[in-house]
Amino acid sequence: MFSQISPAYDLANTLLSLGLDRAWRAEAARRAALPEGGRIIDFCTGTGELARIFLKSGHGVTGVDFCEEMLDIARKKCMEFRWSEFICADATSVPLPNDSADGASIAFALRNLHHVGKVRAVFEEMVRVVRPGGKVMFLELTKPGHGFWRLVYYGYLCLYLPVMGALVSGRSGAYRYLSQSIRGFLDTDQVLGIMADTGLEDIRAYPLLGGIATIGVARKVNKT
Ligand SMILES: C[S@@+](CC[C@H](N)C(=O)[O-])C[C@H]1O[C@@H](n2cnc3c(N)ncnc32)[C@H](O)[C@@H]1O
Repeated sequence: MFSQISPAYDLANTLLSLGLDRAWRAEAARRAALPEGGRIIDFCTGTGELARIFLKSGHGVTGVDFCEEMLDIARKKCMEFRWSEFICADATSVPLPNDSADGASIAFALRNLHHVGKVRAVFEEMVRVVRPGGKVMFLELTKPGHGFWRLVYYGYLCLYLPVMGALVSGRSGAYRYLSQSIRGFLDTDQVLGIMADTGLEDIRAYPLLGGIATIGVARKVNKT
């Protein structure tokens, strides 16, 4: 699916979120609060939007994704940065050593992993590659808690998003899938629970726009 929509992916995101996706990635990078010049592994990096934000602030980034078409766009977008590399791999099995990065991130991709076991496996992999004391951060579209906003948001998901997504990308299925994946995704507390189970501490959640999206940041337990 991502191979097919890759050329329109960035434009569709901007139009469908009214530019909020960019602001939210920037906020997520800020909340991750990585050490200056630190190295981050961006899981499910897609077209490299979050990777580019980290690179612009002086971090080194390895972006990982299993879709070559998305990675090709990321490579072009980030080629001016010396400390960037993009590798094709499944997020549950990344060919990188243990404890080798200061942070790991994942934006707008946990929903695509389809079941709770895979979400857990990706968090385990993020924890594995990060050094003790390093950060793990996610940014995801979530379900707003408040009744009124929930209603408005579900209207957006079921009506506006599939129609606009189909118009922009020329693929009706992909954006119907997006709205279904948001409605079917885990609750934020369940994601935070998985983070706790996988060896993370100091877990914090930052809801955005009443919980339409959530940033989660945690630290890998320091060995003593
Ligand atoms: C919605 S895009 C998000 C891209 C990017 N992180 C962003 O902020 O725009 C989801 C990405 O996750 C990738 N993806 C989904 N499942 C994956 C997996 N199991 N392993 C690696 N990449 C995966 C897809 O190829 C796609 O590029």
